[in-house]
Amino acid sequence: MKVGGVARRTIWPAAAADAVWVIDQRALPHRWTEARLASVDDVRQAIAQMWVRGAPLIGAAAAYGMALQCRVNAADAALQAAKLLLDSARPTAVNLAWATQRMLDGLRPVALPDRAEQAWQQAAAIAEEDVTANAAIGRHGLAMLQALARAKPAGAPLQLLTHCNAGWLATVDWGTALAPVYQAQAAGLDLHVWVDETRPRNQGASLTAWELGQAGIQHTVIADNTGGHLMQRGQVDVVIVGADRVSARGDVCNKIGTYLKALAARDNGVPFYVAVPRSTFDASVDDGLAGIPIEARSPRELTHISGLDAQGRLTEVQLTPAGSPALNPAFDVTPARLVSGLITERGIVSADAQAIAYHLK
Ligand code: MRU
Repeated sequence: MKVGGVARRTIWPAAAADAVWVIDQRALPHRWTEARLASVDDVRQAIAQMWVRGAPLIGAAAAYGMALQCRVNAADAALQAAKLLLDSARPTAVNLAWATQRMLDGLRPVALPDRAEQAWQQAAAIAEEDVTANAAIGRHGLAMLQALARAKPAGAPLQLLTHCNAGWLATVDWGTALAPVYQAQAAGLDLHVWVDETRPRNQGASLTAWELGQAGIQHTVIADNTGGHLMQRGQVDVVIVGADRVSARGDVCNKIGTYLKALAARDNGVPFYVAVPRSTFDASVDDGLAGIPIEARSPRELTHISGLDAQGRLTEVQLTPAGSPALNPAFDVTPARLVSGLITERGIVSADAQAIAYHLK
């Protein structure tokens, strides 16, 4: 997608193939900062501290982490250790372990002297496939949005609500939940996006709003508690979110607060779609509530907040009384029964075990 008129991706290899560049997303929307990651430890840190975030982007970054490891020591044991190190950075997004496993499987048959070069190519392929998959998600989602728009009175924009950031910043390019939005804009569909702020880290208010603003898409940031109210008043036509992991039967694990949006959507007859590449499905987990690990993040993300002060400096301030404990689970699980459909690169599939198994074959 374009930033200031220039086409950008969230991750790109250094020309000498000795490092990978990313956007340090912690500084957005206030500052554009690029970071050079030159080792597997650098990549782990960037993932754990959320310089890069969003399930597909974490996967692509981890793939490059494996490639960087190959430059130092590409032996099986060293690669296995690098995989464990990277996988431990964030436990919920399955794309991370999916990407490191794919790198491991792809490199094991390769002769040791050729592994570094092969690894670089395999990481690039994972990144490229993400772009292609998300563009296809966008096309399938667009068809669904066009059908919803046709059912509306002429002149009324289609009203979409999204949670967290599942736009291009969360992937290599295009995004998942926002890919249909970008394609809708290109197709000339009149559309407005309600952007959940997404406490505690505010990925909606800071990243989604910034992305949509850069693309010139009509949007309004709302407090996390506002969606249900808007749905009751007929001001939301569809909810689209991304996911960090989808179980075999279609339970959806996504940013904390997604479940409440799905409940409100069901109560108000609003379709609730989840946009995911196939790399986000975890066939080894059936019951998402019991089987998907939920990342516990620092309470400080809740007790403190950062933004620009009057002098334009990035500042952190405390919100809560000193001494009040805070709990910060980063994700929740929306049961499959609340999901209207899963939009993948292959089309739209019901959140149902049999349908998903057939769809993914
Ligand atoms: O904690 P984050 O910012 O990595 O969480 C991101 C999300 O929850 C996204 O919705 C999800 O990863 C899908 S990204 C296309």
